[in-house]
Amino acid sequence: MTSEVLSLEVKGLSAGYGGVPAISNVSLKVERGSVVTMIGANGAGKSTVIKSVCGLVKPTSGSVSLFGEDVTGKSPDRLVPRGLAVVPEGRRLFGDMTFRENLELGAYTKKDRHVVERNMERVLELFPDLKDRLASIAGTFSGGQQQMVAVARALMSDPQLILLDEPTIGLSPAMVERIAELIVNVSKSGVDILVIEQNAETALEVSDKAYILEGGHVIAEGDAATLAASEEVQKAYLGN
Ligand SMILES: Nc1ncnc2c1ncn2[C@@H]1O[C@H](COP(=O)(O)OP(=O)(O)O)[C@@H](O)[C@H]1O
Ligand SMILES: [Mg+2]
Repeated sequence: MTSEVLSLEVKGLSAGYGGVPAISNVSLKVERGSVVTMIGANGAGKSTVIKSVCGLVKPTSGSVSLFGEDVTGKSPDRLVPRGLAVVPEGRRLFGDMTFRENLELGAYTKKDRHVVERNMERVLELFPDLKDRLASIAGTFSGGQQQMVAVARALMSDPQLILLDEPTIGLSPAMVERIAELIVNVSKSGVDILVIEQNAETALEVSDKAYILEGGHVIAEGDAATLAASEEVQKAYLGN
């Protein structure tokens, strides 16, 4: 691990919809080997940050660099082969397809059947509860299990960095805890993570570093534990 290499470096990113700005001058870094979170309320601009990082929304200014390479405005089909995977808001599974088929679709950049099978075995080690359910239709899974399928599918492209958009939204507290464990385990397996969350408590718990987004601006950043302990975050985001 070389300390000067960042998985992701976003500098001064601005983007919006139909000329209306949604995020302004957002900068963030994901260091190799780390879990980073960006927390913010509904409408703060979290999804827009993810979408403009992966070129689904074209930034109006600023830059995105992935593993040291400038990729500003490049679309996901260019970024996935470079080691980025995205789990979008709302999971977007193929609900009529089996878990296995969803995983195979996640491996679309890998042409070699043996590589796909090997990846699948490796990925499934992170999902002990689901590994016997490869033949089940993904749409029949619970919300939390579908979130797991979405993460598993993203991991099938063998990414070095994964972006998660609100993985715990709408899940029961027990399932939120499972997703938190999953994030920690994915990180331990060597994948860097940027997780965007409204659920500040869980996100701060699993992250090394955190950013707070309000009204499209980064208003605070720092060590996740330090931010979690700060009076401002305790009051505004942790309900204490
Ligand atoms: N497709 C869109 N068209 C127009 N406005 C949008 C669109 N998506 C998001 N917005 C607006 O951009 C702002 C940020 O939204 P978003 O990035 O989705 O926030 P978050 O993910 O934090 O809830 C909000 O004001 C939202 O209404
Ligand atoms: Mg969102």
